[in-house]
Amino acid sequence: ANGHSNELKRVVVTGGLGYIGSHVVVSLLLTGQYQPIVIDNCHNSYPEALNRCAEIARDELGPDAPQPILHNVDLRDAEAVEGVFSEYDSVGGIWAVIHLAALKAVGESGEIPLSYYRVNVGGSISLFESMAKHNVQNLVFSSSATVYGVPEVIPIPETTHIDAASCYGRTKAMVEDIIRDLCKIPKKDGQSSLRAVSVRYFNPAGAHPSGKLGEEPRGKPGNLLPLLAQMAIGREKSALKIFGTDFPTPDGTCVRDYLHIMDLAYGHVLSLNALAVPPTQKNIFSNCDAETGSFRAFNLGKGKGMSVLNMIDAMRKATGYDYKYEIVGRRRGDVPDLTADPSLAEKELGFVANKNLEEMCRDLWNFQTRHPNGYGSP
Ligand code: WQD
Repeated sequence: ANGHSNELKRVVVTGGLGYIGSHVVVSLLLTGQYQPIVIDNCHNSYPEALNRCAEIARDELGPDAPQPILHNVDLRDAEAVEGVFSEYDSVGGIWAVIHLAALKAVGESGEIPLSYYRVNVGGSISLFESMAKHNVQNLVFSSSATVYGVPEVIPIPETTHIDAASCYGRTKAMVEDIIRDLCKIPKKDGQSSLRAVSVRYFNPAGAHPSGKLGEEPRGKPGNLLPLLAQMAIGREKSALKIFGTDFPTPDGTCVRDYLHIMDLAYGHVLSLNALAVPPTQKNIFSNCDAETGSFRAFNLGKGKGMSVLNMIDAMRKATGYDYKYEIVGRRRGDVPDLTADPSLAEKELGFVANKNLEEMCRDLWNFQTRHPNGYGSP
């Protein structure tokens, strides 16, 4: 399958309605090269997100900009997933898959592990079966810094031992192992096997600068930044809790590597660019052999750690809201510091997360103030 519709390459984006997914979809649209085909069950997202992507594409590229397609399908429904892939067989097929759909709350994963294994691992298997059946050979997998557990070395290089400290992190590590095995299937003559890029995210923050797209989880946000934004706009009334100030870090609160969501989203465009390099030219798989298979993993981060207190301070400056917080016990699964060494992604993908903390907070606040009630509001 060459995956081309007229001149656009078809890319399935699972979880494309989500926070990261929708910003990836808009980045794909703005290249003018891809036709995003979203598979999402709306469990933690809203179809309105795709209307916003379409609107941004028209704003920037004009009325005949490529527009995303949505299939409201659950990855646990293997038959429905197969139906989506089959739909495109007669028009040139799918060129690549960006697989983001997953349950992703570290704490929650310890409470409902079977749901996490069913969705994150089982759902991936359904997807990969359809990819194999329809000869889709290019995959970008949404992995996570949480696969590293408590890393020995900070900043964290990709060679760090994988040892997830949460059920969620283990599901991501397991799916990476499944993908490695698929990339190592012995090739029959002439057949080329799956080529995969696993992108290990650090902490995405912010929103599209237009303010039309942002982080809109269903219910109360579990992540720090959207919570701070909703508190400042008056949408979240509960008190801010800091989960522990007794970590071995400069100010005792956890350090994370926050990067702007648009930088992270563009990292997926760069991953597709790397997959598009023909095997005849030097490409990111050139040094892979039968043992490693055509699988590469890259950290997507800024390489700059910021603590919980740093982020509260940055959001206080961006919103003018005077956050009051209480200090409570640690949250299950939290590790002291996850800061990336981003040099491999920079060297091999050309990835640089150069938007700064002020831009993240400004764009997040711009989104929150334009849509005080999220996607539900006009
Ligand atoms: C950041 C810090 C909390 C809320 C999350 C996902 C993870 C990954 C990246 C997908 C931590 C502290 C938070 C609050 C707090 N997503 N905090 N009070 O856990 O680093 O990672 O995003 O791959 O799966 O879990 O981000 O924003 O939840 O927490 O003190 O009310 O803020 O303890 O130290 P996290 P987070």
